[in-house]
Amino acid sequence: MKKIVLASGNRHKLEEIQTMLKDFGFELVTMKDAGYGDEDIIEDGDTFEANSMIKALAVHKKLGFASLADDSGLMVDVLGGAPGVYSARFAGEPKSDENNNRLLLEKLAEIPDERRTARFVTVLTLIMENGDVLTARGEVEGIIGHAPKGVNGFGYDPLFFVPHLNKTFAELTSDEKNALSHRGNALVALKEKIGQYYEALSRQ
Ligand code: IMP
Repeated sequence: MKKIVLASGNRHKLEEIQTMLKDFGFELVTMKDAGYGDEDIIEDGDTFEANSMIKALAVHKKLGFASLADDSGLMVDVLGGAPGVYSARFAGEPKSDENNNRLLLEKLAEIPDERRTARFVTVLTLIMENGDVLTARGEVEGIIGHAPKGVNGFGYDPLFFVPHLNKTFAELTSDEKNALSHRGNALVALKEKIGQYYEALSRQ
């Protein structure tokens, strides 16, 4: 079985990705379980692509296994794409979902519904054991609400309103969210690229 080290310690992400990629027979392990140690990876890129690559490369270089990293965030149109790569720490340190959501509502206080458009973005980077790189981007469009709604999920989910469902992400079950989320869409795109990659290899 081909081992892939996930450049994250988040077991929810591990399970979600493991399920999505099960057809390829990968064994997915967290970087901690693979022996990466406590060293922090400095994510100082200014795009999701850059940060996702920084994380995948750090793990690949140190451990030599195939590695997979994701980088995600919220982009709000009227804020010029902010908080973007700063989503986790939008309201500063220590990072707090509640403070981030409060700050976002403050910044949009005078903004009418039609200009509260936003999207969640995920970029996945998979580095194969031989150094080949596959990347995939997933997005989902929504509207920033006027007050938090719902108790599920994390981060900006209670403010991220999906008009066609008339619900926020925090009002969806995790299966419902995964079926349409940025992360889910990026995983579908990555799965397709992995399929094409192995198909091309088998023709060589
Ligand atoms: P990460 O790269 O997945 O750790 O995401 C960085 C930050 O973006 C998180 O700390 C959240 O603030 C925000 N974010 C990313 N994905 C989601 C999501 O699915 N729901 C809500 N917030 C998210």
